[in-house]
Amino acid sequence: MDNNISNLLQVEWEMFTITENNQLTRIKLYIEELFRKDASGHDFEHMKRVAKLAKEIAIDEGADVFITEAAAWLHDVGDYKLFDDPDRALQELSSFLQSLSLTDREINDIENIITKISFSKGNIPETLEGKIVQDADRIDAIGAIGIARTFAFGGAAGQLIYHEKNKNTSIQHFYDKLLTLAELMHTEKGREIAKERHHFMEEFLEQFFTEWDV
Ligand code: ADP
Ligand code: NI
Repeated sequence: MDNNISNLLQVEWEMFTITENNQLTRIKLYIEELFRKDASGHDFEHMKRVAKLAKEIAIDEGADVFITEAAAWLHDVGDYKLFDDPDRALQELSSFLQSLSLTDREINDIENIITKISFSKGNIPETLEGKIVQDADRIDAIGAIGIARTFAFGGAAGQLIYHEKNKNTSIQHFYDKLLTLAELMHTEKGREIAKERHHFMEEFLEQFFTEWDV
């Protein structure tokens, strides 16, 4: 095997213990089942991208990569917009986490991050790992993916793409929220990724309005 590839695989494998790798696999399967039917831009692929981004940032920041990745996979569980009964979803999550033989501290750390991210969007998570998950979640709301998710969400909500006199449109959401996110990044790496995506959204909006006024 190519030496570089072999080194990369080793780093990837040694990052977590075998137990942690098993726990992450089971978390992934749990999330796959839970978000299978979502069409509002919160599907399994969103969780996968957030987990990947969060892991990358955690490595860069020297944070606890296991806690960060686990919480990133689980970050939308119990979101009041996505669950009819958020409390029940969080209780079920608690039982699931217990069944993984995580330590009490690990469960506590993961649950703390999730409740902060899901219910207090304006809040800043206290821990570095929580901040990283919030950065990763926000990064997935901007750039090309963010644009696609916004119109997917807008379609699912029966909202117009754009209208000069109506504020309740998907384009308005860029001004209300998406264009503010790059400035809210907590980490250096997050800021770097967000900057590029922010620029892409600005270009998209410019082109959109050029075509709108054709
Ligand atoms: P989070 O991902 O932090 O849970 P939201 O649930 O607010 O945040 O957003 C999820 C996705 O749906 C994002 O991509 C966001 O841009 C999009 N979205 C949320 N609200 C609106 C809206 N009013 N119009 C269009 N898209 C929206
Ligand atoms: Ni999310």
